[in-house]
Amino acid sequence: MEVIICKTTEEACQLTAKIIADLVKAKPNAVLGLATGRTMERVYACLAQRAKEKGISFKGCSSFNLDEYWGLPGTDVNSYRYYMNYHLFDHIDIDKANTHVPCGTAKCPVEECANYEKAMKEAGGVDLQLLGIGVDGHIGFNEPLSPLSSRTRKVVLSAETLEQNCEMFGGDPKNVPTHALTMGVGTVLDAKACLLLATGSSKAEILAKAVEGPVTSMISSSALQFHQHATIIADEAAAAKLQRQAHYRWVMENDPDMKAILEEK
Ligand code: F6R
Repeated sequence: MEVIICKTTEEACQLTAKIIADLVKAKPNAVLGLATGRTMERVYACLAQRAKEKGISFKGCSSFNLDEYWGLPGTDVNSYRYYMNYHLFDHIDIDKANTHVPCGTAKCPVEECANYEKAMKEAGGVDLQLLGIGVDGHIGFNEPLSPLSSRTRKVVLSAETLEQNCEMFGGDPKNVPTHALTMGVGTVLDAKACLLLATGSSKAEILAKAVEGPVTSMISSSALQFHQHATIIADEAAAAKLQRQAHYRWVMENDPDMKAILEEK
C-alpha cells in the first residue's frame, strides 16, 4: 500500500483527478470504478476541467459505480446515478450507455447484483477503483462486518452512515434510505488498482485504523491491505493520526515510482 499525503484538500483532489486522467490517456478504453459522496465532488470537477484543458477523451471508457441507494430511481436528486450525471458524466464525453450504476429500483435486487457483477467481468474488470471512506470505515456501502469476500448485494446501512449522509436528506438520518446495493469488498479487491481518497479531520481516526491497524471486517477499508496496488491519498487533516507519516513522506520524496505518479506530464 502506498500513502500520499497532500498539504491541502485541493491538492489531494487535483492529484486524484490527475491519476484518473493519466490512466485514461494511457488506456483510452479504461474501465473506471467510481465513487460518490462529498469528497468526490471536487475530484470530478477537477477531472472534467483537466479533460477539457488537456483534450482527454472518455469516449472509449466505461464505468461502474460502487453503490446506489435502494428505492431511489436514477431521476431522484439524491440518487447516485443523478449525482454521477450531475458531477461528472454531463461534463465529459463518456457515452452514458457505458456508465453503470446499480439500479436502486430493480425488480429483483439479487438478479440486479448478479448482472452487475457479470457486466463488470464482461467489460474486462475494473482498471482503477476510486474509493472514499466512511466514518465507520466503509468502502462502497460495506458496513462493519461485511464479509471481506462479499460481492455486489443489497445491504442495510449503519447508523453512522445514515448520520454521515443525512445532510442531503434534510438533515434527518430518518430520511436517508436504510438499504443500498453495493459492490462487495471482494468485488472492490478484484480491481486492478484501488485509489482511496480521504480528506478532512473527520476521517483521521478511521483512516489510521484502516491503513495501519489490523485487517478486520469491522473496517472494510482495511481489506485494501490485501491489495497489490492500493494507493491512499490523504490531505494533512485526514493523515493526522497516521503513525508512519515520516516514512510515507520519505517515500514520496525518494521513490522513483512515486515521483512518476506525482509528476505533472
Ligand atoms: C459512495 C461511497 C462511500 C463514500 C463514503 C465517504 O459511493 O462509496 O463509501 O465514499 O461514505 O463519503 P463522503 O465523501 O461523503 O464523506
